[in-house]
Amino acid sequence: MKKNVLAFSRVTPATVERLQQDFNVIVPDARQGDIAAQFNEALPEAHGLIGVGRKLGRDQLEGAGKLEVVSSISVGYDNYDLAYFNERGIALTNTPDVLTESTADLAFSLVMGSARRVAELDAWTKAGNWQATIAPGHFGSDVHGKTLGIVGLGNIGAAIARRGRFGFNMPVVYSGNSRKPQLEQELGAQFRSLDQLLAEADFVVIVVPLSEATRKLISTRELQLMKPSAFLINIARGPVVDEAALVEALRSGTIRGAGLDVYEKEPLRESPLFQLPNALTLPHIGSATAETRAAMASRAVDNLRAALLGERPQDLVNPQVWK
Ligand code: DGY
Repeated sequence: MKKNVLAFSRVTPATVERLQQDFNVIVPDARQGDIAAQFNEALPEAHGLIGVGRKLGRDQLEGAGKLEVVSSISVGYDNYDLAYFNERGIALTNTPDVLTESTADLAFSLVMGSARRVAELDAWTKAGNWQATIAPGHFGSDVHGKTLGIVGLGNIGAAIARRGRFGFNMPVVYSGNSRKPQLEQELGAQFRSLDQLLAEADFVVIVVPLSEATRKLISTRELQLMKPSAFLINIARGPVVDEAALVEALRSGTIRGAGLDVYEKEPLRESPLFQLPNALTLPHIGSATAETRAAMASRAVDNLRAALLGERPQDLVNPQVWK
């Protein structure tokens, strides 16, 4: 008998089609009534879940008695209560690697966009303000040759660092839990404590996963360590940065600007950030290109398929549950 797969966020027709070859696939559909009700109705019979952007733990999964695997269409897995998954023996998979380069592209567009005030001056031009050569008040900051600080030199951090080092001739400094001798050699990257990095970098790029250790890693004290001319870029998770402290730092000129893709609460509908011209705000689009989202969906299907067919999935987050 075919096992049941339930999608917990929108999935593409191609994803559904591939899964249907081996499984019964349920995709809650707003046209057929309340999405949450359809999800809750299907959950007790689901062997596998696939999707992104939903908190899943004891409260949500207690009724999912047959659940074997959750396949997340994301690299980050802070939405899932891993301790609970382990207690229940539920496998969790994610989609690393396939989004590394696209996410690094986006990070770099935030570096460039905030330094050269791209969105701000686009809005200014379209508002009909361009009547003479722009005045120094609208000048930006250089990117090339400036110091790039990477907080968390994992795969995505390294891809960002490569862009800076080889594309923009930027010296790279990094902080994290461990030294990366190979990357130090490849990129000439130099290890720093977080405090040293904050004081030295012209662009501080946050790429660490969210955990209890990194929640509010950047708050008032850390922002005050940064240069007044420096920019903070966050493409990791919103709660890594204390957003109220960031707003204050941007308002008061403690730092020059910020480029943000992630927020404490998403989606971000209202925020003091919207009133700040030196905050460049994007709607969590690190991996949002057609090619990369398709690759992520495909990898998530591979993982889910493998797990439900009894093969060890490629991207198992909690190998201890695999028997
Ligand atoms: C990821 O893959 O973790 C992206 O940030 C989407 O959540």
